[in-house]
Amino acid sequence: MSDLEFLISKREEILRDYLPSLIELEIEQEFEQNKIPRALPDYYYLRFNIPAEDFKEEYYLLAFLKNELIGRGRINWRVKYEDQHIAFFTIYVRKPYRRKGFGSIILKKLIDLVPPQVEILGADAYKNTPGIHFLKQLNAKIVLIDIVSVAEIRKLNKEKVLQEAQKQLEKTRDKGYEIVYIYNGEFEPFFDISKYILMIDRVVNDIPIENRSLDTLKYSYERLREDIKYFLKFKSTSHLFPARHIETGDPVGLTFGVLNPYYPEVCYQDLTGVMYEHRGNGLGLAIKYQLLAKLLEDTEITLWATQNASTNKHLLRINEILGHKLWTEFDNFEIKKEDWMKLKD
Ligand SMILES: CC(C)(COP(=O)(O)OP(=O)(O)OC[C@H]1O[C@@H](n2cnc3c(N)ncnc32)[C@H](O)[C@@H]1OP(=O)(O)O)[C@@H](O)C(=O)NCCC(=O)NCCS
Repeated sequence: MSDLEFLISKREEILRDYLPSLIELEIEQEFEQNKIPRALPDYYYLRFNIPAEDFKEEYYLLAFLKNELIGRGRINWRVKYEDQHIAFFTIYVRKPYRRKGFGSIILKKLIDLVPPQVEILGADAYKNTPGIHFLKQLNAKIVLIDIVSVAEIRKLNKEKVLQEAQKQLEKTRDKGYEIVYIYNGEFEPFFDISKYILMIDRVVNDIPIENRSLDTLKYSYERLREDIKYFLKFKSTSHLFPARHIETGDPVGLTFGVLNPYYPEVCYQDLTGVMYEHRGNGLGLAIKYQLLAKLLEDTEITLWATQNASTNKHLLRINEILGHKLWTEFDNFEIKKEDWMKLKD
């Protein structure tokens, strides 16, 4: 069918000789797609040494044409916990080699790896990229649109932000809440563990997923600890701001930002959420203000990047208040088995 040659392997088993060209390709893809400043190459070397989480299977497929790496595919699915019916893939073909059918061949090879319990393929593509066309011709359907926004925080008036963050703390107190600061997720000294897990469970399952075919997540203390341990392997650090109901001492919401020495300019916003019955008290804005103040005061970060469902009006409004501007849009697709089976030879 073509002169392509393939190498399939788990992330940490990719032959070291191929890493420099693979990493070049990974950086090329990230830069082409979202243009948020790239991580330093050492970050990718670190990443390719760390196996996927224990609950995940993940494979890379390297595609060579006359010994040149011209593209790669990646696919993963869960073998534990929820969502075992869905596999996520991404494909990248270098620009000079596009529209020659290589992307489709890589996808077919990835599909051959998928175990029988998988019913859906998930994939995503940034707005105005060829990935959108590629996925649409596969009869993939958009199930969620994410807004990616970035705040250039050094352009904000630092003194004003710090004052407002302080004011937000006072307002929060007046409403019967306080905001705690936690470094690297070490929440145990601050909260009752089971109450904290319950809060995470509630907040995570409240994130709008629109039409994505995802199961309800079930958190446990062991699972959260595993997540934190895995996260730390990447040398990331986090600034976490949970909100506490003063009267009961219970955690009622949280926000946290992720930093990494290999991408020193950017803080990636992670989970933000407030439990349903505590909403309407300004907590979402107040906790994110504390994170912004922390970034401005104690870090060298210049960009604060976040991604939210386009339907999540409240959070989008909060982000706007905090200086976020639309960066790009990110479409999440799903392909049903009956459609992807058509691709099999
Ligand atoms: C998306 C991507 C992997 C496609 O790779 P490719 O090798 O060009 O794909 P193919 O040649 O197999 O294309 C298959 C079909 O997809 C559609 N398609 C792909 N790129 C397209 C484009 N730029 N415009 C319109 N249709 C396009 C066409 O229908 C094409 O068939 P045709 O060429 O016979 O008309 C490649 O463009 C890429 O790497 N883009 C950046 C990464 C990305 O966006 N990945 C997300 C997808 S998971």
